[in-house]
Amino acid sequence: MRRRRISSLSRSFYVTTPIYYVNDRPHIGHGYCTVAADVLSRYLRLLGSDSYFLTGTDEHGSKIEKAAEASGVTPQQLVDDHAQSFKDSWKMLDIQNDYFVRTTDARHEEAVKKLVTKLHETTTPDGKSVIYEGEYKGLYCIGCEKFLTEKDLTEDGLCPDHLVKPELLSEKNYFFRLTSYLDQVRDLIESGKLKILPKERKNEVLGLLRHGLDDFSISREKVQWGIPLPFDPSQKAYVWVDALSNYITAIGYGDDRTSFDRWWKGSEIVHLIGKDILKFHAIFWPAILIAAGEKTPDTIFIHGYFTVDGQKMSKSLGNVISNETLVELFGVDSARYLLLNMFPFGTDGNIRLDDFFRKYNSDLANDLGNLVSRTIKLTRGNFKGKIPPAGTPTDDEKDLLQFVKSAADRCKQQIEAINPNGAANAFMSVCRELNRYFDAQKPWALAKEGKPERLATVLRTTLEGIRCVSVMAYPFLPEKCRTLRETLGCVPDPKSIGEAESLEFLVEGAELKLDKALFPRLELPDEAVKEAVDSAPPSDDNLISIEDFARVQLRVAEVLEAEPVPKTDKLLRLQVAIGENKLQIVAGIAEHYKAEDLIGKKIIVVANLKPAKLRGIESQGMLLAAKKGKKLTLLTIETDLPSGATIS
Ligand code: MSP
Repeated sequence: MRRRRISSLSRSFYVTTPIYYVNDRPHIGHGYCTVAADVLSRYLRLLGSDSYFLTGTDEHGSKIEKAAEASGVTPQQLVDDHAQSFKDSWKMLDIQNDYFVRTTDARHEEAVKKLVTKLHETTTPDGKSVIYEGEYKGLYCIGCEKFLTEKDLTEDGLCPDHLVKPELLSEKNYFFRLTSYLDQVRDLIESGKLKILPKERKNEVLGLLRHGLDDFSISREKVQWGIPLPFDPSQKAYVWVDALSNYITAIGYGDDRTSFDRWWKGSEIVHLIGKDILKFHAIFWPAILIAAGEKTPDTIFIHGYFTVDGQKMSKSLGNVISNETLVELFGVDSARYLLLNMFPFGTDGNIRLDDFFRKYNSDLANDLGNLVSRTIKLTRGNFKGKIPPAGTPTDDEKDLLQFVKSAADRCKQQIEAINPNGAANAFMSVCRELNRYFDAQKPWALAKEGKPERLATVLRTTLEGIRCVSVMAYPFLPEKCRTLRETLGCVPDPKSIGEAESLEFLVEGAELKLDKALFPRLELPDEAVKEAVDSAPPSDDNLISIEDFARVQLRVAEVLEAEPVPKTDKLLRLQVAIGENKLQIVAGIAEHYKAEDLIGKKIIVVANLKPAKLRGIESQGMLLAAKKGKKLTLLTIETDLPSGATIS
């Protein structure tokens, strides 16, 4: 895919993610865009630009009202709790946003009122009022918070995204005269003044514009949980008008002129979004801004979607992978790296947890981590762990320098094209080139042959190359790069990408301090996917009824026999007694329990599970265990209750 570049750097950028619906819990779909914005923002700074990075939560609307009612809390309690879980997730992923906007913030609400008042007082170029009163009749999907037409529905008349029947709504609404601005929006997009990237998405928007769009309603009568319109408080601002405004209210629209002028008017505005919200961002939002007399965004980048095992992640399918799961499995930096590098930024990608493991091992543990370990090991063995002198470079070192410089340049270009994945490919190519150089120079042989000068040059050059990687990879792997740079005797945070354009930076004689593997190799766990899915927090969609739960027969079982399953490190085969009956269970607990220690224990098992085969052995039940990260403890019964006793 060819990508357009955003204009010259050394400027100000304003980078935003969508604000996430607060009724959901953060998952890797949200993490994807937020980490991308974080990497972009950190990279822009490394390239000498200023950047302001905004994310936040979308907290109004009937969906919240209904969810709060169902959980017996007030809408405010619900949104406070859920907004915090987004903040926690971003903190855990080392996201350095400059501000976190919430649409229930008083500052946001006041600014939205100012914006809609401004629109209400404005007339279109052809002299009509921008906002007018009308009657709305339509099919409304609460899940999407939008009206759907018959064409949008499935054959059974359901919303295609939520598979629920939309409600027929009829109410007095205020409308925004979108039709008066469509030509201007099309001109902006066609001329490239508003860049819609990747290019296919630009064509999609132009297609929508060719098809024609109607004016849209900007208020709701029946919704309580929303911002009242100042000119008619019986109506609440439509959630999308409320939500889109966050991009300007967060930086001072209507209350902090200096900040607003700097970050909105004086910056290159880059909105990162998913494909499902393209129309709102590429058509509605610019039209609102034109009507309000404000600058329109410069770039809207539409990233792809994560699907899991070919399906959209959804709570009801139970295939949601949380950010926590990824961080628990791989650590913060690696989770950031993996999120962004499974597929190009502008395309969809289907993933399984196993793929994350493979990518981690091949890129981080092998190409980068192993390179660092073997270079340090040889430096320790031959130069007492101190950075050796550079010596005289040969053509091999000069070629390597050219390679590194052009990779740094590629990183710049890829960031300009809003392709973080391309920047990561560029620095990973340096790792691979360094490995090739290292293998071709055979420093271990130079040591044996007694050629200390050449050995010094090779090790020094590789260490310098690793330092260059620590600059280019820093926005992705901030903590690991800091460790790496401290090891090499550099300041932890690189100041500029320019540091990756030279192979003469390190201080000769400085001691290398790293004492453990930067990215230890990880084994691919058999049950990774299941574990990830299990860790999805409970939500309205995956609550089960008492009747559902009552179908699960939980029983006390006594372990009669236990033995390791041949050719696996993880599985044990157990024979358990449940009263008079016996069951065979194959369980992935061999890393936590020795077979002989289990005999005689009373554990809890699911006794009415359909049999399944694991490594060819039939397993007729499941045992209960508590698990967090790598720690696992079986649930055992310590009283004299006999085996067969029921658990209820
Ligand atoms: N609240 C609105 C956005 C308002 S912005 C003014 C919203 N929220 S959302 O939580 O449903 O989605 C937020 C973003 O997350 C969207 O860009 C959406 O595309 C993205 N993702 C949600 N699931 C995703 C994946 N599985 N993969 C990648 N991104 C996805 O829409």
